[in-house]
Amino acid sequence: MTVSKQPTFHQLFTTDHDAVRAELLTGLTAPTAHTSPKFLYDALGSRLFEAITELPEYYPTRTEATIFERHGAAMAGVVPAGATLVDLGAGNCNKAASLFGTLHPSRYVAFLRNALACLQRQFPAMDMVGLGLDFSAGLALPANLASQVLPADSPRVLFYPGSSIGNFTPGDALAFLRSVRTACGPVAGSGLLIGVDLVKDTAELEAAYDDALGVTAAFNLNLLLHTNRTVGTDFNVREWLHVALFNAAESRIEMHLQARHTLTVHWPGGQRTFTGGERIHTENSYKWTLPRFQALLSDAGFAASQAWTDEGQRFAVCWARAL
Ligand code: AVJ
Repeated sequence: MTVSKQPTFHQLFTTDHDAVRAELLTGLTAPTAHTSPKFLYDALGSRLFEAITELPEYYPTRTEATIFERHGAAMAGVVPAGATLVDLGAGNCNKAASLFGTLHPSRYVAFLRNALACLQRQFPAMDMVGLGLDFSAGLALPANLASQVLPADSPRVLFYPGSSIGNFTPGDALAFLRSVRTACGPVAGSGLLIGVDLVKDTAELEAAYDDALGVTAAFNLNLLLHTNRTVGTDFNVREWLHVALFNAAESRIEMHLQARHTLTVHWPGGQRTFTGGERIHTENSYKWTLPRFQALLSDAGFAASQAWTDEGQRFAVCWARAL
């Protein structure tokens, strides 16, 4: 009989609603209006993103899954077994769980409480720890907690799937990967397993972010509903258009919301007029070439990296050894 363990949870982060409100309004009143992609993920936005991953045009999620299926055995040959698997992919614990049988971690640490209880029922013998922490600004854990959560003698496998690294500018990605490299700790063999979306044909890229069913449009437009709830604006979704375009010079997909005609948005204490065609920039999703991404990993201090891709070279999974 297996004894079922209980996941432990450490809440390190509380939402400061005034700060969130101020951040949204600063972006919305800037000369070129912009918002952070994190505001796309309220309850509805998170479900719409899940729906996006099922769309025929949105290839990243299923391509990454194919790479794990096809090359899992090769990955297990270089990723240390018995490791502490640290999941930075927040929302979706199932990706990491699908690798338990291949990578054989001894402990699972995830940056969200949500699915942990349910995962613990599926894997009663696995040590599970949840961290309530926004790690986007860096991964430093308070020293006492780090020693508790991350055993000093076991290698660490940091896991960042889904190509979420694409939301960072190259400069911010470098800083973030440096903090990930540091968080890999002192044990030889530790490293980062990361998914990255690759540069490809513009039409294929743009279709992935402007699908025929309009799910991505709904995902983007929902930002306005989230903002109405959070700051008390009176955005009318019907007055805005979803725009997704590949900016080749910056090597990124950009999502914008474009005013269909001149309109004024009001909120307690302010207002802004948008002229017809004016945009709010809501997301960047950087696309990398494999050589550039591996150079980035090396610049971030990783000792060596190797990559697996799909037949169409659409997506890559990289293993970067920390030392
Ligand atoms: C979750 C950031 C990887 O950039 O492809 C999907 C988000 N935005 N469709 C991506 C997203 C529009 C997604 N990431």
